[in-house]
Amino acid sequence: MDERSMDDETMRLDMLDRLVAMRGYPLAEEVAEAMRVVPRHVFVPQAPLSEAYGLGAVITHRDAHNVPISSASAPGTVAGMLEQAQVRPGHRVLEIGAGTGYNAALLAHLVGPSGSVTTIEFDPDVAEAAREHLIAYGADQVRVVTGDGTIGDPSQAPFDRILVTAGAWDVAPAWVDQLAPGGRIVLPLRLRGLTRVVAFERDGDRLRSVSVAEDGFIPMKGIGAIPEKNVPLGQGPDITLRIDDNQPVASALSTALDEPPVFEWTAIESPWAWTPDQDFWLATLPGFCRVFVDAEAVTAGRVPRAKDPWGAWGVHAGGSVAYMTAQQVGGTDEMPMLQVGACGFGPAGADLARQLTDRARAWLDETAGEVDITIEARPAAEASASDEVAALLIARKTDHEFVVTAARKSEAMSA
Ligand SMILES: C[S@@+](CC[C@H](N)C(=O)[O-])C[C@H]1O[C@@H](n2cnc3c(N)ncnc32)[C@H](O)[C@@H]1O
Repeated sequence: MDERSMDDETMRLDMLDRLVAMRGYPLAEEVAEAMRVVPRHVFVPQAPLSEAYGLGAVITHRDAHNVPISSASAPGTVAGMLEQAQVRPGHRVLEIGAGTGYNAALLAHLVGPSGSVTTIEFDPDVAEAAREHLIAYGADQVRVVTGDGTIGDPSQAPFDRILVTAGAWDVAPAWVDQLAPGGRIVLPLRLRGLTRVVAFERDGDRLRSVSVAEDGFIPMKGIGAIPEKNVPLGQGPDITLRIDDNQPVASALSTALDEPPVFEWTAIESPWAWTPDQDFWLATLPGFCRVFVDAEAVTAGRVPRAKDPWGAWGVHAGGSVAYMTAQQVGGTDEMPMLQVGACGFGPAGADLARQLTDRARAWLDETAGEVDITIEARPAAEASASDEVAALLIARKTDHEFVVTAARKSEAMSA
């Protein structure tokens, strides 16, 4: 072993130690072993070793607007998805989104010589780089296909595992068709602007989640691309509404920010204003959307800060909009104590802000902030699920209707 490979191995072990410390629980043994063996730096040759073995995503390609379009996902994201997939020796695996080829190399390690891995990449340059990295590592048995992963790879089907490593708007019919009996599809699925990595197994003509985790992904390109609408409001723009699922937007919204906001405060105080899965709870409100608030507009006092810096949860109706905000009521700059509230703009702004704070309070009253989320995908042709199940959210897509339910300590409950 030369000095450089000793360094690499030490850095991999150190990366795994830091990952376990960050998550607070160990990795599945086979996933930890694969990540110990596969040299991530070979798949991101342009990155310094410290970045290759850091805990962040390594962005490898950006579009003309500097938006990331390909990356090696963060090690925690990669590990979590592989754990959800439960890949075993001998499995036939399809990956959508080859990116750097790193995850395909981990999959090749997990399936061993008796299994097979096919990975599909939309971008020809990215696909070529993935091929080169896999050859450089010595995993040239991985089949890299250039094309749109939404149609899968019928020539190699059926697959025991299908892993989608780009954000998907729906479960493509080809993936379901190409799934072997007893197989599992793991994908980051976007529902009403919220992303969850879902491991689905088939149950008759439906798919039922066996695990649901929270994470973010680069969106899918091609025929499965995510249809979203961005609505800029105010001078900067000061806020931008991201509206999913083709929900209609009133033209009157353009003047919503003309008057100052009204506030609704809750008694909820927390050192970190994020409450996992509360987003699905708020997503039951009509006009639910994500609101990106411009930092300069906040500093200039034109709009209140967002509760969550990566996009506050909000609602819009007619010419009015409201979003979750927070104010510091104690603590320190590093660890502020935040009071949770909502701010509303426009004629119905106060009412919309109250809807948000009422639901935020109800979330804590009814769930104590601890729920297990289950997601079921039903063929779109079937009757609506709304009268059958106590659903938190029902999202209708092209091919499926997704029914999200929540249970508190094994007890089913409705929104
Ligand atoms: C987060 S990266 C994948 C990371 C990768 N698995 C790795 O280990 O480095 C997402 C990739 O999905 C690709 N992608 C997006 N839409 C796609 C599609 N419809 N079919 C195939 N690949 C797609 C992107 O070009 C990008 O390279």
